[in-house]
Amino acid sequence: MRNLPDTAKINKHNHLEIGGVDSVDLAKEFGTPLYVMDEATIRNRCRQYIDSFRKYYPNTDIAYACKALCTAGILKVVDSEGMCFDVSSGGEVYTALKSGCDPKKFYFHGNNKTIAELKMALEVGVGRIMVDTTQEIINLDEITKELGQGVEVMLRINPGIEAHTHKYIKTGLIDSKFGVPQNEIDEAVKMIQKHKYIKLVGFHAHIGSQIFDTKSFVDEVKLLLELTMKYQTHEINIGGGPGVAYLDSDNPPGIDAYAEQVAKVLKGKTEAKLVLEPGRSIVANAGVTLYSVGAIKDIPKIRKYILVDGGLADNPRPILYQAIYDAKLANKASAVPVEKVTIAGRSCESGDILIKDIKLPKTEINDILAVLCTGAYNYSMASNYNRVGRPAMVLVRCGQASLIVEREDYEDLIRKDIIL
Ligand code: LLP
Repeated sequence: MRNLPDTAKINKHNHLEIGGVDSVDLAKEFGTPLYVMDEATIRNRCRQYIDSFRKYYPNTDIAYACKALCTAGILKVVDSEGMCFDVSSGGEVYTALKSGCDPKKFYFHGNNKTIAELKMALEVGVGRIMVDTTQEIINLDEITKELGQGVEVMLRINPGIEAHTHKYIKTGLIDSKFGVPQNEIDEAVKMIQKHKYIKLVGFHAHIGSQIFDTKSFVDEVKLLLELTMKYQTHEINIGGGPGVAYLDSDNPPGIDAYAEQVAKVLKGKTEAKLVLEPGRSIVANAGVTLYSVGAIKDIPKIRKYILVDGGLADNPRPILYQAIYDAKLANKASAVPVEKVTIAGRSCESGDILIKDIKLPKTEINDILAVLCTGAYNYSMASNYNRVGRPAMVLVRCGQASLIVEREDYEDLIRKDIIL
């Protein structure tokens, strides 16, 4: 199935196994909710990106978009595959540095980076600052002069391209807070060229996330190519990667097909370096979240609720974007689905429904529910709503599980409180 980790299978106990580890054992050992990340899937995706793009357009670098999932354990795996990094805050820069990643491989994003973040980025020597506003050029002018240090930048432009995805995750529309509007590009380039410390190396655009239609990407690359020719720059950064299959029936473009289409626009027309910043498609289907079923509420002729021990605090995507997830019973992995149920979260919100109307095998108290394809934008968007600690995360590989994020306990929750 497309929405499972590459190593997922059903073992002899009829349990879901990931990375050679029995997920029911994981739930017992580490508790639930639990984020399980499959190392092999992450490595496979990094390799597919690097191999496919370099096959069609050798001068390509792939930068993992840390916002999808940023923990030291994950970044170390990604780093060891030879990837670069899209970082979008001081916190992501810090995490990547602490994970041993080379700052020269960082592309630092943000539509309103603070002065402190920009200074930090320059001091640690990040490779590229992705300039998002003309104000940022003014800020960089002051900081580079103060530090007596040069910086290489790319200009993020607003491509004005309609991409077919949820409105909250479209970023390239004309009416968007991201990127320099097209009528300001010329002025922004001139502003940069005036500064001896700031060097423009190329252009960036990002049209949104969870996109299946490669035509929007092709239009974007054409626009970036035009700008590259016009301003004689030598790097083109096309932003995030294509969408992923949350459901087995979803049919996103394959990485190879996507690479071929992007490369077709550039090949023979430019020698510029191509950079892309996939996040979701690297980690999403490497992840599964395990929950315990704690209660069942059957409202006759209305709905049967399966109540689990997590919800919107560990996965806010259903309530934010009406995202639809798939799930399996990890302890009854080959049982036939027989009943339509609704998986409800534990938080004090009626809208905290993880999955509405899913067909599952007969579900009982203490079953372990595995929600699929939760590797991207789940942990990274998790909260402590209702003062619930964020779950632990384990990385599984070749029959071994390593704890890479500890479960937050009550002390963690009040660590920053000041008791007067
Ligand atoms: N580059 C830039 C500049 C971005 O803003 C993003 C995502 C990416 C790369 C990575 O895009 P991806 O390959 O992951 O599609 N929280 C939302 C997704 C927000 C995406 C924001 N930017 C969600 O859960 O669907």
